[in-house]
Amino acid sequence: MPITAVVGSQWGDEGKGRLIDFLSAKSDIVARYAGGPNAGHTVMVKDMQCILHQIPSGIFCPNTACIVGNGLVLDLLDLKKELEEIKQNGVKLENRLFISDKAHLIMPYHRVLDVVKDRTQQLGTTARGIGPAYVDKIDRKGIRVCDLMNEKVFEEKLSKALEEKKELFSRIYSLDSKGMKEILEVKLANKKTGENFSRFFDEKEFLNTQAILEEFLSLRKDFEKCFTDTVFLMHDAIEKGKRILVEGAQGGLLDIDLGTYPFVTSSNSSSGGIASGLGIGVRNFDEVIGVMKAYTTRVGGGPFPTELKNEIGEHIAEKGREFGATTGRKRRCGWLDIVVLKYSIAINGITGFALTKLDVLDDLEKIKVCTHYELGGERVEEFPSSIERLEKCTPVFEEFEGWMQDTSSARKLEDLPENAIKYVQAVEGFLKKPIKFVSIGPERSQIIVR
Ligand code: GDP
Ligand code: IMO
Ligand code: MG
Repeated sequence: MPITAVVGSQWGDEGKGRLIDFLSAKSDIVARYAGGPNAGHTVMVKDMQCILHQIPSGIFCPNTACIVGNGLVLDLLDLKKELEEIKQNGVKLENRLFISDKAHLIMPYHRVLDVVKDRTQQLGTTARGIGPAYVDKIDRKGIRVCDLMNEKVFEEKLSKALEEKKELFSRIYSLDSKGMKEILEVKLANKKTGENFSRFFDEKEFLNTQAILEEFLSLRKDFEKCFTDTVFLMHDAIEKGKRILVEGAQGGLLDIDLGTYPFVTSSNSSSGGIASGLGIGVRNFDEVIGVMKAYTTRVGGGPFPTELKNEIGEHIAEKGREFGATTGRKRRCGWLDIVVLKYSIAINGITGFALTKLDVLDDLEKIKVCTHYELGGERVEEFPSSIERLEKCTPVFEEFEGWMQDTSSARKLEDLPENAIKYVQAVEGFLKKPIKFVSIGPERSQIIVR
C-alpha cells in the first residue's frame, strides 16, 4: 500500500492539521517525522477546536495509530499537558500512540537558550527550544528517549549537559541568576495555565539538576508505554500493507536546507525529512500532497515578497483568524506566490495540492496572484537562495475578479461561484499540478474532494 505524505508548501500553518484529520479516517497510521512543539496543527472535531503540537493529527480517529518519529525533538513536559487535554475530550489513547526511542529530548535549558539566542538573532522563533535541541543533536550531545529509559545513562548525560550549558549561559550569554529566573518564571510561563519553570531555578547553580532529574524520571513513568522503536513499527506496517499517512510540520520554505535561511526552523520540514525522520526508504512513499493557503502567511521574521502591509492584509488576517496556533502571534499575510509554490513542488516532489481557506477571500473585489518576480529589469522565476537577493525582488501580479459571495457551504466544485472556480483553475494552471482538495472552512465537512 503506498504511503501518502502531507506537507506544508509555504511558510507553515497552511491547514495541514485539518487535512490530516480528514484523511485519517481512511488511514491505519499517521506518522510525524520532524519538528517539535513549534508546530500548531488545528483540528475541528464537531464544534470543538483542538490544537496539536506534538501528537499527530490522526489522534481524533479512534482506529488510527499515531507515530512520533525519530526526527522530532520532543518536549515531554508539554506533551504531557497535550495528552491530558486530549484525554479530557474523551479520546482513548491506549495502544494508539507510539513515540520513537531515538527522538531527541528538548530540555529546559534548550528553551532558555532559545529565548536568549533570539534576543540577538531576531528570527522570531517560537521559543520552544527547537533550534538549541537540534544543535545538540547535530553536535552529538543530545539526550534521546532511549537515554531517558536508562536512569544511569540519563543522569550522566544530564549532568554533563548542565555543566556545559551553565558555562554557556554565564560566559557567552552573560546571563546572571536574575536573568535566568526571569526567563524561567516569565518568558517560559504557560500563558494559559500560569505554570512556570521556577522549580528548575537554583540561586547558586542557575539550573537545578536534581529538580530536572526528578521531573524527567517522573515523565519517563508517564510515557514508558509509548516509547518504542518506531522504525520497526513502520516497517511492519509497510510489510503488512497498512495505509500510512505521513504528517509534515512547518512548511517547505522553513526547511533548514532549502528554506529562507536563516529565517527557517532547524529541521528538514520538507518531504526530504521523511525518510530519515521515520527510518524508511525513499522508495516507500509515492504521493506527496502539498497544502497551500489560497494566499500566503508567515509568522516571525524573514523575507516575504508578496506581503500586504495594508488594509487588505489586515482584512485577510482578521477574516482568516491568522494568529499563530502555538504562540498566538499575528501572522503576516500576503497574496499567493507561484514562485514559492513552484519551488515547493520541486523540493517536496509534490504530486497534488490541497488548497485551503478559499473562503477567506470571499469578500475581496480583486484577488492577486504573484506569477514571477522582477529584479533589475530581469524576470525571476526561480526562488532565490540568497535572502538579500530575494528581498530585492519585486513581485509581478496577475489580477483576478473576486466572487463577493459566501463559499463556506459549497460541497462540490460546481457549488462555488464562477470566479472562485476560475481562481482555483488558474492556480492549477500556473502550478501544473492537480488541486485535489479545496477547503472552504475549518470544519470536517467543509472540504471539497475533487
Ligand atoms: P497547520 O499548522 O498547517 O495545521 O495550520 P494551523 O492550524 O496552524 O492554521 C490553520 C488555521 O486555519 C486553523 O485555525 C484552521 O482551523 C483554519 N482553517 C483550516 N482550513 C480552513 C479553511 O478552509 N477555511 C478557514 N476559514 N479556516 C481554515
Ligand atoms: P506548523 O507546523 C509557522 C517559524 C517560527 C520562526 C521560525 C523558527 O504549525 O505549520 P523555531 O521555533 O522553529 O525555531 O522558529 O519558524 N515556525 C513556524 N511558522 N508554522 C509552524 O508550524 C512553525 N514552526 C516554526 O515562527 O519564524
Ligand atoms: Mg500551525
